[in-house]
Amino acid sequence: MAALSIIIAPDSRLKGHCEPVERVDKEVRKLMDGMLDAMHKHQGIGLAAPQVGVLKRVIVIDMAREGEEPAPMRIANPEIVWTSEEEVLGEEGCLSLPQQFGDVVRPKKARVRYLDQDNQEREIEAEDMLARCILHEMDHLEGILFVDHISALKRNIILRKLTKMKKLMEAAE
Ligand code: NI
Repeated sequence: MAALSIIIAPDSRLKGHCEPVERVDKEVRKLMDGMLDAMHKHQGIGLAAPQVGVLKRVIVIDMAREGEEPAPMRIANPEIVWTSEEEVLGEEGCLSLPQQFGDVVRPKKARVRYLDQDNQEREIEAEDMLARCILHEMDHLEGILFVDHISALKRNIILRKLTKMKKLMEAAE
């Protein structure tokens, strides 16, 4: 499978609503593996299907640090079962907004139900970085980027920078 390329914001393909998968079959597993490859290539910890141009409710996560064993999670049709009332502020980045960061308030803990790579239903309770990462990726499935959670002023600065960067990249091609 050719390497999947990651769409950079601003792009209308990152703003759509994603449809659930019917079941996790060979095709969906192939998508998950392709997404993990693209994510690892860019040293990311999470990626959502719309970031590679596929409007399906599929995300992948790998929180293992450099030098640690990879710990890939393949997630389809995630649903929030519960989130903690306690919220925390934390810095986020996104492979679709390279080199840009912003502080986002999210629940400290989240319980999420999903289908794994074998189409088995699972539920996990995540906290801190993992909860943040899952909720960030789930936002992508609704066309929401981390910059949509920060002030319009900061958002516009970031999106303008990226627009300029994309023009330079296109000119260099
Ligand atoms: Ni992201």
